[in-house]
Amino acid sequence: MEWVNNFYNKQFQLYKEGLTGPNEEHEEILTKIETLASKPFQSILELGAGGGEFAITAAKKGYDVSAVELVGSRVDYMKKLKNEHNLIGELEIIEGDFYEVDLPKSFDVICYIDGFGIGDDHDQQKLLKRMSNWLKPDGCILIDIYAPWYWASVAGQEMMVGSKLRKYDFDFLNCRMLDTWFDGDENVTQSLRCYSPQDLKMLLEDTGLMLVDIKPGGAMNYKTWQYHENVDLDEAMSYMAKLVPGQGCR
Ligand SMILES: C[S@@+](CC[C@H](N)C(=O)[O-])C[C@H]1O[C@@H](n2cnc3c(N)ncnc32)[C@H](O)[C@@H]1O
Repeated sequence: MEWVNNFYNKQFQLYKEGLTGPNEEHEEILTKIETLASKPFQSILELGAGGGEFAITAAKKGYDVSAVELVGSRVDYMKKLKNEHNLIGELEIIEGDFYEVDLPKSFDVICYIDGFGIGDDHDQQKLLKRMSNWLKPDGCILIDIYAPWYWASVAGQEMMVGSKLRKYDFDFLNCRMLDTWFDGDENVTQSLRCYSPQDLKMLLEDTGLMLVDIKPGGAMNYKTWQYHENVDLDEAMSYMAKLVPGQGCR
């Protein structure tokens, strides 16, 4: 997993000029989380919080958020945003690795928005067990999971992000989406394991968690270059999975 720090730092450097802070997209994510949680809650643990746009949005609405992020440049940006916004709830910014960090608290909702699937299945299970330990007994975990069929279908797709080339690929043997950003002679690649809901159920074995709901996300159509917000699972780039304490699935 050596690529992780390098990729997410480089990606941040390449697109940070275009960042404008929290926006409607983050409010929509919060609405999705509130809807899937299906009951009122107060505390949120966000893993892989990036530049903190979602964490700020939630704290502005009154939630108490603990945001864990590995990459220092992203943490610095999150701290800057925290100073610029009036928050109603608490925002605790934790610079650290979610595989190592010690969190002596438990939470109503734990979320990982975009980016799940970094290591192999054992790494994912280790993280899920850690999440399960940080979760209140009546809480829920909400994770964006990449859908294998979408990422297989866009293998080879290229696009420009500002002046930089980005290319998607798919590792068919290991069911992983590959996302490469080119900057001159240098390039960095993100590699994320994709799971169907059935794969996810198998991954959850022995984690003390069960899958109880999913909500498909949107999809980019590269023939028309249009993004569609709400598509069926068979077309979606990812789906949000709701996990709760328990075995098997409901
Ligand atoms: C695809 S980005 C998504 C960022 C943010 N959630 C969003 O939706 O904009 C994944 C994030 O997870 C962070 N991350 C990856 N591995 C991590 C780890 N082991 N501990 C903490 N954060 C990590 C990365 O640095 C990156 O900011």
